[in-house]
Parts: sequence; structure tokens; C-alpha cells
Amino acid sequence: MSKMWDGRFGKEIDKDVNDFNSSIMFDKRLYEEDIKGSLAHAAMLAAVGIISYDDSQLITDGLTAILDDLNSGKLVFDMTAEDIHMFIEAELTKRVGDAGKRLHTARSRNDQVALDMRMYVVKETNAIIEIIKSFIKTLVGIAEKNTSTLMPGYTHLQQAQPVTLAEHMLAYCAMFLRDIDRLNDSKKRTLVLPLGACALAGTTFPIDRQYVKDKLDFNEVGFNSMDCVSDRDFVIELLSNIALIMVHISRLAEEVILWASAEFKFIELDDAYATGSSIMPNKKNPDVAELARGKSGRVIGDLMGMLAVMKGIPLAYNKDMQEDKECLFDAADTVKQVVTIFGKMLETTTFSDGNMAKDAEKGFINATDCADYLVKKGLPFRTAYKIVGSIIGYCIKNGKVLTSMTLDEYKEFSEFFDKDVYDAVNLNTCLNKRTSEGAPSKVSVEKQIKTVKGKLGK
Ligand code: ARG
Repeated sequence: MSKMWDGRFGKEIDKDVNDFNSSIMFDKRLYEEDIKGSLAHAAMLAAVGIISYDDSQLITDGLTAILDDLNSGKLVFDMTAEDIHMFIEAELTKRVGDAGKRLHTARSRNDQVALDMRMYVVKETNAIIEIIKSFIKTLVGIAEKNTSTLMPGYTHLQQAQPVTLAEHMLAYCAMFLRDIDRLNDSKKRTLVLPLGACALAGTTFPIDRQYVKDKLDFNEVGFNSMDCVSDRDFVIELLSNIALIMVHISRLAEEVILWASAEFKFIELDDAYATGSSIMPNKKNPDVAELARGKSGRVIGDLMGMLAVMKGIPLAYNKDMQEDKECLFDAADTVKQVVTIFGKMLETTTFSDGNMAKDAEKGFINATDCADYLVKKGLPFRTAYKIVGSIIGYCIKNGKVLTSMTLDEYKEFSEFFDKDVYDAVNLNTCLNKRTSEGAPSKVSVEKQIKTVKGKLGK
């Protein structure tokens, strides 16, 4: 395809340079946004009298037909076009003649690509929000079924205090709800219209940027033309939001991997969501969770790549910015795929409440409660802490746990111990007395479930 800009040049572009420069192989994805942006631009040009209504009608019909033909596959992308913007404009001109050549009045590819990218980022942001919402619903579903499912809560991956599976799942709900908040927040800054900034310095034509803003449902018009064409913060913000979602997913993935191990046996993955080994017939591997964990690294790479691309770029548009696309597409595709499949995997996972409870009983996750018992009898916490520490040492030496100590043994450590200590160290008591806001008792967890559902409903 001959270049739109070849008037100034005495030679054809070198073939390798052409391939190097070209972005159509990846920016073809932006065709819908590009056409919608052009439709709004053409309508504005006619509304303010820069082009005639007849021309704008020809442009509108032409672009609408191109959109249909691309959607149906009747029209294929010309890979020799420099980018999606050039391709659509050339195709339009092929179809409607001179009217097509008027479309680019008071516009540059610099503001055009910035607009397309913003529209694409908004589309992906909305899609990711929906996927995260349904993922949270899966987590809440597990929580609702497990408000009394006792499990050991960990710090340093050492058994710490009793929690429930519901409390554990609701922690992830909190993370993913924050992710939705962040996506909604960055969306506000993405919906700032760059079109009308033209190459970098606006135009002498009497354009109406507010008109285009309203037509495209943007929140506001970008107030500085140089920033409009050179800003890619909105890409970085989405990448950063996606990276954080993937970090959250990778934490849950790590737990799934641990819980599926013979050492934990807290869960059994559905056969449809696990894989086998080519050599070891005994293996059932949590590949979905491992890949999700691995892909978080790749998405963090997409974010780092884009930060590095933008660092040090002088105003205004520079071709470096064409590098904003592949990392964005990759990160958005990855997060949507990962969260969707991860949700399906969790929905089909069997949680072993028996094994969780058994493990909870093995450790000393009621030790804090035992110390609190002494505190309630009047001892200072530090004194109580020390006494219970000695009891734990005794238990470990003698193969006991707090529930199997005799009252005489308890009394050896402090005369404050009485029969009611057994109720205090009973794991169900330890759990159900944790009624403080956000704690794992059934009542507190039920409140949390309501909170999450309320936030999802909005
Ligand atoms: N393909 C380019 C990009 O993605 C479009 C903008 C090109 N503008 C220019 N002046 N060369 O960034």
C-alpha cells in the first residue's frame, strides 16, 4: 500500500523499516474503537460546518459498512497498511471517494490513537470488572457454605489461631473488591477526551470538542492538547490494576497448590481442573493454579515494560508509544482468562472440612485463648503468655495438646486454672467467641458476607 505521507519523500520506504514501523498486525484489534471515534469526529465536523452534511453522511455510511464487513469477515485487514487508522481511512476513501479524504480534517493519528486506546481501555476495564464480580460471587458462595468450617489460620505459614474457611475466602473478597474500586477509579481518568488535540497543538478549525465528548460518553475534555496526545497514564493504570489483581490471584493460587498437596489435603481438585504426569501415574497436578501464579509474573512484566517505555519520553507524541499496545492486550487477555478459569476451578473444588478440622486440632491454635483465659482470671497478659508458653513446651515434650491436659497438669503451671479451662480451649468456643468486627465467628462472618454482597450489588 502506498503511504499517505509519501508526497514529501523521494524514495519508497525500505521493506524492513516498513515492517518494523507497522502496527496493523496488533492494532487491528482497535478497529471498532477507531470507527466509533471517526463517526463522532465526522458528525462534529458536519455539525460545525467544516464538512458538508452530505460528506458526513457518506463517511458515516461508509464507516458503518466497513465495521459490518470487518465484523462479518467480509473485509480482511490489509497487512501492508501502516496501522489500523491508515487502513480504515484508505478503505473508506476507496469506498466513498473524496468525502473519505475529508475525514482527517482537524485530526491527527496522534489524538486518534489516544482516543482509540482510551476507548479500548474502558471496554477492557468494564469486562474485567464483570469477571472479577463473578469471581467474588464464587468466593462468597464458598464462604456461605463454610461459615462453621473450622480451619487453622496461619501466620508465617505456621498454624496461628482458629479461623473458618469462610473467613479465609472473605479475605480474598476484600482484595478483589478493592481491585474493582481501583478499576472504577482509573476509568474516570480514562474517560477524558484527547480528540481535538490533533498532532499536538490543536487546530485553527472551529471544532467542538464538547460535542465529541458527549457523543462518545466521555466525562470531560482533556484540557491540554500536548498532554492529550502524549499521555499514556491510563494504560499504565490499567496495567497496574491488572498486575495487582494477578498478585491477588497468585496468592490464592499458592494456597490452592498447598492445600491440594498430600501434606495439607484440605482440598480435592475436580479431575476436569487438574492434570496428570507423563511418567508418574500417581500424579494429579494443580496446573491451573500454577499457571495462574506464573502468569502473574508475565503481567507484572507487561506493567514494568510500559513504565520503562514511557520513562524519559519528551513531549509530545513519540513513536515509542506504539509499544503501549501489545503489553496492554496481553495483560488484559491474560487476566480475563485466568480469573475466569480460576473461578471455575474453585467452583468444582471439594473442601475437606474433616482434614481442616483435624489439622486445626493438631497444633496449638488455641494457645492465645488459653492465655486470654488466665487474663480474664486476673493475671497480666505477659504473665499469662509466659505460663502458656511453658505449658506448650510441656505438651510438645509429652505428646499432648491443650485439650488433653489434665486439670492437675494445668494446676502445676498456675492455680488460676479451673475446670472451665476446657471450654476456653475448645476450638469451637475459641472460634465462636471471636465476635469482634471482621473476626471469624459465624455471626461476624455472616455480617461480612452481607457487606460483600452489598458492595457487589452496587
Ligand atoms: N500506530 C501509531 C501508534 O500506535 C499511531 C500514531 C502514529 N502517529 C504518528 N505521528 N506516526 O502510536
